[in-house]
Amino acid sequence: MRNLMITGGAGFIGSNFARYILERYNDYRVLVYDKLTYAGNLDNLKDLMPNPRFAFVQGDICDAAKVREALETHEIDTIVNFAAETHVDRSLTDPGSFIMTDVYGTYVLLEAARTLGLERYHQVSTDEVYGQVLEGAAVETDPIHTRSPYSASKAGGDLMVLAYYASFGLPVTITRGSNSIGPYQYPEKVVPLFITNALDDLPLPIYGDGLQMRDYQYVLDHCEGIDIVLHRGVPGEVYNLGTGTETQNIVMARKLLALLGKPESLLQFVRDRPGHDRRYALNIEKIKALGWRPRHSFDEALEKTVRWYVENEWWWRPIKSGARFQEYYRAHYHGREVRPSSG
Ligand code: NAD
Ligand code: TYD
Repeated sequence: MRNLMITGGAGFIGSNFARYILERYNDYRVLVYDKLTYAGNLDNLKDLMPNPRFAFVQGDICDAAKVREALETHEIDTIVNFAAETHVDRSLTDPGSFIMTDVYGTYVLLEAARTLGLERYHQVSTDEVYGQVLEGAAVETDPIHTRSPYSASKAGGDLMVLAYYASFGLPVTITRGSNSIGPYQYPEKVVPLFITNALDDLPLPIYGDGLQMRDYQYVLDHCEGIDIVLHRGVPGEVYNLGTGTETQNIVMARKLLALLGKPESLLQFVRDRPGHDRRYALNIEKIKALGWRPRHSFDEALEKTVRWYVENEWWWRPIKSGARFQEYYRAHYHGREVRPSSG
């Protein structure tokens, strides 16, 4: 395994993973293959462009000919697939794009990996495929119980990956990661949205009662987990990947305001997301048995993330002030405030 194609590598986790791999293995080459949707951003890869072991191709994972050409030209032996439509709220208004990329696109990559006889196909999946976990923690053998078009599409991808293992013997692995935070996360996701809103003294829109729980992990821990599964994981297996601890959204928001020295009056309760999963929680014993441990607590991850956004306005200001983001924000949040009932 030396020549990796990182699909979706111009997005949040994929770009962190590309950087991580190039730093960790000085004989590996990385090709980022990315469509550059609204979430893909070449600024995320700016520092990697001059590296002779790095290459970028703009392309859609649904385009079988282009995928094959990129794999052959760059003599790829391993695909790590991050490419996906990823935002639950957008999946409620445009499920079709999620089905195309997250299910059909996954199939296109698998078929290319199979016909070219690649060494490994790794699918970057999500804890959301288990659905909400109201008590305890999901183990890898738990049934899929998806509730949003995003998680349903990701689950479809996972099932296709496992089918290629069972039917064709393609050496696949899957990680089901929890909510990640850190540098280069598109500011539609809750943590970068809240940090950047707070920096501009704008309200932090809390969905519903804010008591929903997520396992927020630092993005480089997520990257290291994928690396360990790539190198030590057993083909055909699924590995949960998170901290194994959960935090309520309202607690996360208060901590973030405290770190920034901003007032709690910025918290603004808004109408809940339809079908909002109450809690995700992962049992992480299986990946720990491979030697992986999360290196950051939630507090450490949040602190590093806040610091990065404070220090990197050059990255997020153009996104947030752009017409595309402004339009999304207006359509999604305008008029959504829940006013406290008087008396
Ligand atoms: P992101 O939205 O930041 O980036 C997705 C990237 O995929 C973008 O660069 C986009 O241009 C690219 N892309 C989208 N459709 C494509 C297509 N058809 N062809 C090629 N490229 C395409 O996403 P992220 O947060 O970095 O998530 C990466 C992966 O990790 C996804 O598969 C997601 O489901 C999974 N995941 C994310 C989290 C999280 O907290 N962010 C947690 C668990 C799993
Ligand atoms: P998000 O970052 O969209 O990730 P996911 O829904 O995939 O877990 O949201 C994380 C949590 O934050 C989720 O419980 C929804 C909540 N949330 C808000 O309260 N306000 C917001 O503006 C957003 C985007 C999310």
